[in-house]
Amino acid sequence: MREAPPAEFSSALIACAHRRRSIGDPLYYFTEIGSTNDEALRLAEAGAPEGTTVAAAAQTAGRGRLGRSWHSPAGAGLYVSVVIRDPRVIPLLTLAAGVALAEGMRAATSLPIEIKWPNDLVIEAGLGRRRKLAGILTEASTGREGVQFAVVGFGINLLPAAYPPDVVDRATSIAAELGRPIDAGALLAECLAMLSEWLEALRSGDVRTVLERWTMLSPSATGSRVECDGPEGRLTGVTAGVAPDGALQVRTGGRVEPVRSGVVRWL
Ligand code: BTN
Repeated sequence: MREAPPAEFSSALIACAHRRRSIGDPLYYFTEIGSTNDEALRLAEAGAPEGTTVAAAAQTAGRGRLGRSWHSPAGAGLYVSVVIRDPRVIPLLTLAAGVALAEGMRAATSLPIEIKWPNDLVIEAGLGRRRKLAGILTEASTGREGVQFAVVGFGINLLPAAYPPDVVDRATSIAAELGRPIDAGALLAECLAMLSEWLEALRSGDVRTVLERWTMLSPSATGSRVECDGPEGRLTGVTAGVAPDGALQVRTGGRVEPVRSGVVRWL
């Protein structure tokens, strides 16, 4: 059942209402839900407007990319999904959301957060290794006339309890990186304000600035050795930036191949 959001969410969202525009309005808050993406897709199907946001303290069926589950214990992470209807922003939604989350998390924590293609927010852990702090899952609903709406969901690890012990060498949390917990309301408000700002850039046709900012925030997308398992088999090469359609470009054997889906391993 929909509930009143925690006071720290409401006050932080009110304080940055002018920067968020429609993003975060209305806000549906749940103490526990299956998946905020499922609820946002359901609300969008029922006609919810652009910017409708679903947040939960815990998810029992949180989803990640490639059919993986997203561990979502109560109060350990931020679990949020936003309804997007504007066809001008949907094609590059994951990329713009990556920029927005990196900047929102940087503003709220001062941590040097980076993007790892396509949807991970990571932090350097020494010797070129990176640990994941957050992930993005974009899902779209397509009808006869193409994409009708999309939902962009993000999960941010606030505390070490947010991820299962078997990924402890690949994941981290804001509290572990900072040595103290932070105000989740301020983090949510910053991320929604940045999402609004970067969606506005796409809306105004400024794809170039989004791609340039994404590239600056994603050092591993240029000059890193990777192995990709996609629909056409395995590809090994060196990353060569992101294409205007959001594909990761991989240089292999004298040519550059676009990688649009599948698993990418940084070697
Ligand atoms: C990934 O890294 O694979 C993406 C993880 C996305 C998780 C978030 S949590 C809020 C929203 N609801 C879901 O079920 N998934 C996304």
